[in-house]
Amino acid sequence: MKSHFLDINDLNSNELENLIDKALDLKGKSKISNILQGKFLGLIFEKSSTRTRISFEVGMTQLGGKASFLSIQDLQLGRGEIIEDTSKVISSMVDGLVLRTIEHQTQLDFSNHSSVPVINGLSNKSHPCQILADLLTYYEEKGSIKGKKIAWCGDFNNVCYSYAQAADLLDFEFWVACPKEFSPGDSLDFNNVNLTTSMQEAVEDSDLVTTDVWVSMGDENDASKREKAFKDYQVNEDILDKAKSDAIFLHCLPAIRGQEISENLLTDSRSRVFRQAENRLHAQKALLVELIG
Ligand code: CP
Ligand code: NVA
Repeated sequence: MKSHFLDINDLNSNELENLIDKALDLKGKSKISNILQGKFLGLIFEKSSTRTRISFEVGMTQLGGKASFLSIQDLQLGRGEIIEDTSKVISSMVDGLVLRTIEHQTQLDFSNHSSVPVINGLSNKSHPCQILADLLTYYEEKGSIKGKKIAWCGDFNNVCYSYAQAADLLDFEFWVACPKEFSPGDSLDFNNVNLTTSMQEAVEDSDLVTTDVWVSMGDENDASKREKAFKDYQVNEDILDKAKSDAIFLHCLPAIRGQEISENLLTDSRSRVFRQAENRLHAQKALLVELIG
């Protein structure tokens, strides 16, 4: 396993499956252990977070270590200290770093100067930690995802990008229903990824249906344009009916009811969204043990 986790494909397929197994194992064990006793994790966030922050903080504590959250306003970085110096200094004291950044380049710059593992806790390009939890949720309930049809509806955003990378690694069929103007088109260079403008085509006979907000953090200036473009891409009960009868629904959260999902979808019998959110904790505990244990 590489020393940093900036994208899903920093793992090979064996490493990714082993990580999911490890997460399942940890989830079934006693919450509290001392595997990371004496280890310290720094969290540096340029954007808001509920799940990512709390799951890393709680995960470290449950594993016997400690975590400290640093918002950009609290750091000298916010006053102009450069990434190189910040990364060298912080990594000389901590055992790992989680970064949530506006630009993916910031993740690369930090990791280039860090002497400890850097974990991407979301960037404009990707959200690999989220996909670990999604995969864990799928494997937990249904077993291997190999050969399955997974449907993504809506914006081809950071979470979608990480799914596309996972499809390549784990050999599942990933269908993305997205309006043309927001589709990556030919620029996309992954196996097993199918782009369509048709929700029907993407969702039909799928094993898992998933989506995310139409306006990600940083896209707010485009909000009204996006809301218009995505208005026919809402996942609702009728759309889910087109999937396999035992299909499940996931959403990374936060969700906007009445936009990308219908009012009651999160509590539909096919939704596993709140288990998925809890699985952020279990998946990342496995990642932390692997990277800094
Ligand atoms: N899904 C996710 O990353 O949530 P937060 O933005 O709350 O961390
Ligand atoms: N695509 C969303 C994910 C939030 C967890 C965003 O970047 O805002």
